[in-house]
Amino acid sequence: MAGVLGVIFTCILVKSILRASTAVDHVPVLIWSTQSSLWKGQLFEYEGHIISEQELHNLLQPLFNQSSRNIVLFLQDKLSMDDFTYYRRDHANEKPFHSLQISIETSASSLVLPAVTTQGSSHLSEYLQKQTEWNIFTADHLPIEDLDIDPSKPNLFLVNLPVLSSTSDESRAHVLANNDLTMGKFTTNLKNLGIPFTAIYTAFSPSKGFKSTDMTSHTGRQLLAVDIPAPARYSPLTVTNGTYTCIIMFATKVALTFKNTLHVDLTNETFVSHTVNSTSSECSDTNTLVSLKYSNPAEGINTLELRFLMTNKFYKGSARKWFTFDSLEIIQDNLHTARFNASISAPAEYSYHCQLVGTNMNYASRFIPANKEAQAWEIHISDFQIQGFNIKNNMFSYASDCASFFTPGIWMGLMSTFLMLSILYYGLLMIMQLTTNDRFDDPKGAAIFVPQTN
Ligand SMILES: *[C@@H]1O[C@H](CO)[C@@H](O)[C@H](O)[C@H]1NC(C)=O
Ligand SMILES: *[C@@H]1O[C@H](CO)[C@@H](O)[C@H](O)[C@H]1NC(C)=O
Ligand SMILES: *[C@@H]1O[C@H](CO)[C@@H](O)[C@H](O)[C@H]1NC(C)=O
Ligand SMILES: *[C@@H]1O[C@H](CO)[C@@H](O)[C@H](O)[C@H]1NC(C)=O
Ligand SMILES: *[C@@H]1O[C@H](CO)[C@@H](O)[C@H](O)[C@H]1NC(C)=O
Repeated sequence: MAGVLGVIFTCILVKSILRASTAVDHVPVLIWSTQSSLWKGQLFEYEGHIISEQELHNLLQPLFNQSSRNIVLFLQDKLSMDDFTYYRRDHANEKPFHSLQISIETSASSLVLPAVTTQGSSHLSEYLQKQTEWNIFTADHLPIEDLDIDPSKPNLFLVNLPVLSSTSDESRAHVLANNDLTMGKFTTNLKNLGIPFTAIYTAFSPSKGFKSTDMTSHTGRQLLAVDIPAPARYSPLTVTNGTYTCIIMFATKVALTFKNTLHVDLTNETFVSHTVNSTSSECSDTNTLVSLKYSNPAEGINTLELRFLMTNKFYKGSARKWFTFDSLEIIQDNLHTARFNASISAPAEYSYHCQLVGTNMNYASRFIPANKEAQAWEIHISDFQIQGFNIKNNMFSYASDCASFFTPGIWMGLMSTFLMLSILYYGLLMIMQLTTNDRFDDPKGAAIFVPQTN
C-alpha cells in the first residue's frame, strides 16, 4: 500500500518537475546580418546566464532601427548547443552546420546567444510580426525568386524548417544538413538580389539533452578518415592502466624543430612502428599524463620525452565535467625541460580533435611557450586527436573540434538548470518519503483510522 502510494507520489512529482524544467529550458539563438556594427561595443556575459525574453527583445532593437529592414527568421523544432559539437564531425557525408558557420563568419555583424529561454525563442515570430507594418512572407521551402519583394518596404520572412522527427542520429544529421542548405540558399539569394538582411536561426525547444557516448561506432582511424584518409599503417597510440585503455592519441604527423635547425620527426615511432616507450604514462579520473619517451630521435639528442598533461574537472557553470589539456613538456636528455601552455578543452565524455596544433601563430590551437627553454622548440602536430578520460570500448568518442565556431569557452560557462532541478527533485522526494512513512507505514495504524461515530 505504502509502496504503491509512494510510486504514485513519485510519478506525480517527476511529472511536475519535468513540466517545471521545460519552463526554464533554453535554446541557442544565432543572428547574422549584412549590416555592420549592429551590436558594436556591446559585451555579453554568457557565464551562467540564460537570456530572458525581455533581454532578447532588447538585443533585437537595433534591427528595427535600420533604414532597410529585412528579417529572415529560420525556425526549427529542436536545437541545442550540444548539437553543434555533436553533429560537427561524426557524420561522414553530411555537414549539418557548414554554411551556417560560413555565413556567421563572413557576415558584417553577428550575435551568437548560446542560451535564450524557450519562452523567448518560441514567441519570436509573434514578437517580430508586431514590430512594424511588415510584408510578411511565410513558406516552408520558398523559391525566393518567385516572391514579389519590395525592398523599399520592411519584409519579414518566416521560414519553418523541416522537423527533426526521427530519433536516428543519421537522419537527424541529414535533416539538419538539408536545413543548413536551405538557409544558405535563401540568404545567398537575398544577397544576389541586393537585399540587405538580418537572419535569425533558433528553435522552439531544446533537443534531447547531452548525448552519451554509447552510440560511438567509429574507431579513431575511421573517424579521422572522414576528412583526411590516414595511411592504413597508422594506428592510434593507446595506454592502459593495467586493465583498461585510459588514453588514446592519434596524429598523422608529430614533428619538432630545435633551434631552427634540428628536425625531429616522431611520427613513425609513435603511430607506425609503436616503438615509443609510453610506460611512464599515468591515468586517473582527474589527471592524465601521456609520457612518450624516444631514444636517439635525432643526431645529438640521446633521449627525448614528450609529456602531455590533462585534467578532468567539474564546472559549475555548465553543470558538467570538462577535460582540459593544460600543458606539454619536452624533456631533452633528462636535463632541459621546455614547457608550453595549451588551452584545449572538451566535454569530458568527448575526444578532442584539431587539424593543426603547434607553436605556429596561425594554427587553430596553439602551444604557448611558458619558459625560456621552450623558445628553442617549434612543434607541429597534424590531424591531432586525443582522449584521456571516459574511454569506452577502446575507441575515441565524438570529437569536439577546435574549428567549431562555438568555442568551449562559450558554453563551458553555460548555466544548466539540470543541477538545480535535480537537487530540488531530491529534496522534494525526501519530503514525500517522510509523509508517506508518517501516514502509512506506522504499524499502530492510528493515522488511517477513520472515525465512524459522526
Ligand atoms: C531606435 O530609434 C528610436 C527612435 O527613432 C530611438 O529612440 C531608439 O533609441 C533607437 N534604438 C536604438 C537601439 O538605436
Ligand atoms: C583502470 O581504469 C578502470 C576504469 O576507469 C578502473 O575501474 C580500474 O580500477 C583501473 N585499474 C587500475 C589498476 O587502476
Ligand atoms: C617511416 O618509416 C618508413 C618505413 O618504416 C619509412 O619509409 C619512412 O621514410 C619513415 N618516415 C619518416 C618520416 O621517417
Ligand atoms: C620504458 O621506460 C621505463 C621507465 O623509464 C623503463 O623502466 C623501461 O625499461 C623502458 N622500456 C623500454 C622497452 O625501453
Ligand atoms: C602558463 O600557465 C601557468 C599556469 O596556469 C601560468 O602561471 C603562466 O602564466 C602561463 N604562461 C603563459 C606564457 O601563458
